[in-house]
Amino acid sequence: MRIYYAENYEKMSRKAADILAAQVTLKPDSVLGLATGATPVGLYRALAVDHREHGLSFSKCRTVNLDEYCGLAADHPQSYAYFMQKMLFSNIDICPEHTYLPDGKNIDADAECQRYDALLASLGGIDLQLLGIGHNGHIGFNEPAACFSTGTHRIRLTESTIHANARFFVREEEMPEYAYTMGIRPIVQARRILLVVSGAEKAEILEQALFGPVTPHVPASILQLVPDLIVCGEAGALSDICSKHSALVTNLP
Ligand code: F6R
Repeated sequence: MRIYYAENYEKMSRKAADILAAQVTLKPDSVLGLATGATPVGLYRALAVDHREHGLSFSKCRTVNLDEYCGLAADHPQSYAYFMQKMLFSNIDICPEHTYLPDGKNIDADAECQRYDALLASLGGIDLQLLGIGHNGHIGFNEPAACFSTGTHRIRLTESTIHANARFFVREEEMPEYAYTMGIRPIVQARRILLVVSGAEKAEILEQALFGPVTPHVPASILQLVPDLIVCGEAGALSDICSKHSALVTNLP
């Protein structure tokens, strides 16, 4: 595990974008696992700059997103499909047919989960998986549970996740209670994982996830078993790790 400390969100985003750009340079036809949420927005902006000003090309990449809200169509402004389109896909040269997300409008959960798992298998797995972490330690929408999930599933979001994500909706009641999420297994089977974390309110859960017991009650703790894990955090999010495990942290210039 490599942990990079950035003094602010911009530097964290730049470092994470450099790692993602390196992956695409190394393997232009990479399968990229992507995340939504507030944390990767700066990284997506930085990648758009790399594409526009420095010719970084995603034309051979394929992308798979971690999750989607049940009930929201791809053109709903709060859907993750819409987010990805706005924040990244429309700003780079990725082929639209090579971008995949769960279909939030499919009410047949079994069929949708099987479809997404078959898709992941047909892509041959993920080369680099980008992750954020929830306040309760979730990755994707794999919420704390009695055991680690395997395949794609429909999940009832916890109160803490609904509360955290309701900020993106006009009214909290509009926030869907269910989502489709990739399971833990394909996430941790990715050949490389890049975790981005920002904000002091994540400091405690991040330290627990990376240095506490490996337990499905903190889903991100499974990342301790991943051979190629890169963590890019800004000062607030890394504060607990810096005070307890400073020798393991690399400071970015
Ligand atoms: C998003 C996702 C979630 C987020 C997590 C952190 O696709 O899978 O696990 O990464 O909830 O979200 P932010 O970055 O908004 O704090």
